[in-house]
Amino acid sequence: MRTEATPRSFRIAVLAGDGVGPEVVAEALKVLRAAAGSFGLDYSLEELPFGGVAVDQTGLPFPPGTRRACLEADVVLMGAVGGPGYDRLPAELRPERGLLDLRQALGAFANVRPVRLPASLARLSPLRPEVVAHGVDIVFVRELTGGLYFGPKRLIPPEKGRPDDELAAEDVMRYSVREIRRVAEVAFRLAAARAGRLTSVDKENVLVTSRLWRETVSALAPSFPEVRLRHLYADNCGLQLVRDPGQFDVIVTENTFGDILTDIGGAIVGSLGLLPSASLGGRTGLYEPVHGSAPDIAGRGLANPAGAILGLAMMARYSFDREDMAQAIDSAVTGVLEAGHLPADLGGATGTERFGDLVAAAVSGGLPTA
Ligand code: NAD
Ligand code: IPM
Ligand code: MN
Repeated sequence: MRTEATPRSFRIAVLAGDGVGPEVVAEALKVLRAAAGSFGLDYSLEELPFGGVAVDQTGLPFPPGTRRACLEADVVLMGAVGGPGYDRLPAELRPERGLLDLRQALGAFANVRPVRLPASLARLSPLRPEVVAHGVDIVFVRELTGGLYFGPKRLIPPEKGRPDDELAAEDVMRYSVREIRRVAEVAFRLAAARAGRLTSVDKENVLVTSRLWRETVSALAPSFPEVRLRHLYADNCGLQLVRDPGQFDVIVTENTFGDILTDIGGAIVGSLGLLPSASLGGRTGLYEPVHGSAPDIAGRGLANPAGAILGLAMMARYSFDREDMAQAIDSAVTGVLEAGHLPADLGGATGTERFGDLVAAAVSGGLPTA
């Protein structure tokens, strides 16, 4: 996605956040150290308050100092934000609001979420063996800076005389052709570089935004003759993902559908803890695991750091232009899992730090990864 010359030393803004966020980010940084040593990468880290911890320290989830540092950085590595302690704050002070503001500030409109499970690890999926026998290899492209998340929101006070005189609320879903086209182009390009199958997901049978979505995506298809485009309703997509995930290559969809469908992706590969994401489109890429702060397991060394570590591989691929490093990290994670070192979410007993140590050792060549 980057167009300017590759800088010699990469400035990484680190937003560890809340709950398991700092636990998984620590392991990603461990693997980064190992990978940088093996592959000769120069980088500097700047750790910044973000999310609930930033609310505690500064009163704001995305303080101006953190914003400035993220905009000046080459990449942002994020853990997770939020937790029960912050759920009663006013909307603009919620940690999750900070995350939405960060995505918007970076112009990160294309959220790339690979959902991968090699055939060798098919047993980690809760789906029947014959459904995942060939593994799962889907890339979601979720629109990330529009739709319900960013449209006008309001509480509508009760009004005497109105037929329903109780409190009401509204979130507006709005998409422009430009917003749809730019994210669809990312998806077409990704599909062209993969198996050439793109599924666009919408609710065209109900939503006018989806009708515009479908028209806009369809209008791009002639520019990508090597890509076969099909359209699917979001509800059917959820069904098809569980019934036969092998039918998908690249899936493009709007913000809310993408949020929900990618968590289903986490379920079909065995755990949400395995999924990384890259949020692209602006100058600075944002890399984060798909999962949240997992308050139910935080602070106990149980979190699976694979999603955060695989996010690092995406960072190497998309922001450092280091495919060699990306592949080494990807195959180190696969190798550690294949060797049977499974975190608790995958039914094993490998702790967060131990998993990070094993991946770091594999990246440094200390463990067979094949
Ligand atoms: P969650 O993703 O935190 O957890 C969902 C389930 O997955 C839980 O059972 C959790 O234990 C498990 N899980 C998640 N990550 C895991 C990991 N790395 N290893 C093992 N198991 C893992 O979602 P939630 O419980 O709905 O939300 C908790 C908080 O996180 C909320 O405040 C929510 O708003 C926030 N959240 C933040 C992000 C983010 O920062 N990107 C994403 C999703 C949710
Ligand atoms: C995600 C999360 C976020 C989202 C929340 C925490 C705002 O669920 O990254 O998937 O809904 O985008
Ligand atoms: Mn989500």
